Amino acid sequence: MNAPPPDLLNALADLLGPKGFTRDPVDMAPWLEDWRGRWRGAAAAMVSPATREEVAETVRLCAAARAPLVPQGGNTSMVGGATPDASGDAIILSLRRMRTIRDLDREASLAVCEAGVILSDLHDAAAASGRRFPLSLAAKGSATIGGLVSTNAGGTQVLRWGTMRGLVQGIEAVLPDGSLYDGLTPLKKDNRGYDLAQLLIGAEGTLGVVTAASLRLAPAIGSRVVAWVGLGSAGDALRLLRHLQAAVGDGVESFELIPASALELVLTHIAGTRAPLTTALPWHVLVEIVAPVAAPSPDKYVHAALHSALEIGIAQDAAIAASEAQAEDFWRLRESISEAEKKDGPAAKHDISVAVPDMPAFMEEAAAKVEAHYPGTRVNAFGHLGDGNVHFNVRAPIGATAAWVEAEGAAVSALVHDLVTAAGGSISAEHGIGQMKRDELARLGGAARIGALQAVKRAMDPHNIMNPGKLVPGI
Ligand code: MLT
Ligand code: ZN
Repeated sequence: MNAPPPDLLNALADLLGPKGFTRDPVDMAPWLEDWRGRWRGAAAAMVSPATREEVAETVRLCAAARAPLVPQGGNTSMVGGATPDASGDAIILSLRRMRTIRDLDREASLAVCEAGVILSDLHDAAAASGRRFPLSLAAKGSATIGGLVSTNAGGTQVLRWGTMRGLVQGIEAVLPDGSLYDGLTPLKKDNRGYDLAQLLIGAEGTLGVVTAASLRLAPAIGSRVVAWVGLGSAGDALRLLRHLQAAVGDGVESFELIPASALELVLTHIAGTRAPLTTALPWHVLVEIVAPVAAPSPDKYVHAALHSALEIGIAQDAAIAASEAQAEDFWRLRESISEAEKKDGPAAKHDISVAVPDMPAFMEEAAAKVEAHYPGTRVNAFGHLGDGNVHFNVRAPIGATAAWVEAEGAAVSALVHDLVTAAGGSISAEHGIGQMKRDELARLGGAARIGALQAVKRAMDPHNIMNPGKLVPGI
């Protein structure tokens, strides 16, 4: 990799004009650090093209000069995926000026969005047309479509709608040589070989720059039932999910697992929250069941299904939100877990998956092993049980400072990752690899997987100019 020569910087400045090119340290500063403040890098310049043609010409110029590019959307990566390294050689390629929703076809339930469209803007536009985009996450006010595609984002509706992989119907991207790949047409069937869209989804900007995507929309929600259910075990939570799916089918849109410890953290640290149930129980789930506008409300079925779950002992207690305000209160409890955990003290955070039926036993066994190995630690595993994905966070012993993560974090994470790998699972279910987990991927990914990742990367980006140092080990 090379530091960008002055000729290249001049050519980019000419191409993109003052709105699209800066070397001003003050302008660049917010984009050199990730939002969690864990990674800080440096850059020779930041470019912000306004069109796909400008992106293509930018990449072509950088490829000719072998100058590294770090694509960036809302800078909300959880794993340092959009932060340049410290060398100062990289050019940040911001997609934030490309924020046009090119098309929103209500009949076809499709939206064509440029990479810089902010997720909440797509939510608003879809709602205005009587549709919705069924993927949401905490960073929706900053996260961009390009970043969500490039990280194969998840969230709390994956159970029903899948990750971005399931929602992208077509893609437009600039490849590492500057060529424009136009695969935006939402073809339902296309057997022309390797699926380039799927290759670019989740590639973390290492194989090219996503400039736009065709996205599937869902029918607007006509009615929803939001329930908080208390349970005796995580195994019962999975039984409850199957029970509800048998009763109401596809309508089960979210099913989030919350251990008593996580609820306790939220009630302690987040103002204005209160427990939905009066019974003290070790496990809880937040369930959302929806029906589209023209369909009858699922209310009756959900009541009956929860009633029978209580009768047969899968569930121990349940509260159905009586109003939209109460439903929002339930969701706030779930969505505040990470914040409350952070306020309480340091933790080694993980984002793991195993096969869905294996998760309850995995959580129990892995927590016992980790807590025995690191006395005083407390596992706080919560999240997307229906996807086989929990945030298996290991809280530091009481009274520990941030230095605990520095001293013990890597060893704790290695143990968690060993356990999840032994269970056939993934060390990264939704947050990605970025720079944070690259060494762990190298250690545990397996020779065949790593070899294939490297071969694809080398073939598509032979000069390693696209987001170097991220995702692919050893390159
Ligand atoms: C969540 O599901 O709440 C997030 O993905 C977890 C996190 O912020 O670590
Ligand atoms: Zn999550």
